[in-house]
Amino acid sequence: MHHHHAHGHAPAGLTGSLIADHETILTALERLELRLGDMKRRGVVDVETVNKFLVFARSFIDRCHHGKEERCLFPCLERRGIPREGGPIGVMLYEHELGRKLVRELDGLLKSYSEGKTGPEAVFNKCEEYIQLLRQHIAKENNVLFPAGESVAESEDVREVTECYEAIEGKEVGHEVHEELERLAKEL
Ligand SMILES: [Fe+2]
Ligand SMILES: [Fe+2]
Repeated sequence: MHHHHAHGHAPAGLTGSLIADHETILTALERLELRLGDMKRRGVVDVETVNKFLVFARSFIDRCHHGKEERCLFPCLERRGIPREGGPIGVMLYEHELGRKLVRELDGLLKSYSEGKTGPEAVFNKCEEYIQLLRQHIAKENNVLFPAGESVAESEDVREVTECYEAIEGKEVGHEVHEELERLAKEL
């Protein structure tokens, strides 16, 4: 008999679902980095690949994953006494904004590259800036903020936050699209 939950697995704790998202995001970043290596050797941007990555960055990383953090986890951590202003949550929010800005800039560069107005280097550099930002951001969450959150969470927080994650995934991308995006991350 094959048992499975509504969508695959339900990772445990306050941050298990977010850590699983991080694994998917890190896979996508690794794939993009590999593809960038090929592009650099050839001296051309593979516009389709970078566009696919942009779709993933906007939907999975930003709307869904950052949505789960900003609307579910961070408010819960604040209620349990982890500070926002001048604290780790403020830094995470700032980096989410930075990520949005880099995605907009990458989108613009890709368009002007397609029109022959920008060389490939600017696109490569912007991709690398984004990869670096996300990797160090994820490391801070996994190693510092999330363990701190787990240590202050009460059992009712886990239930509430998990429901909130489900609602965001369902509303922002839909559960099926969420799984599709997980596949896309591996196929970039
Ligand atoms: Fe984050
Ligand atoms: Fe995150």
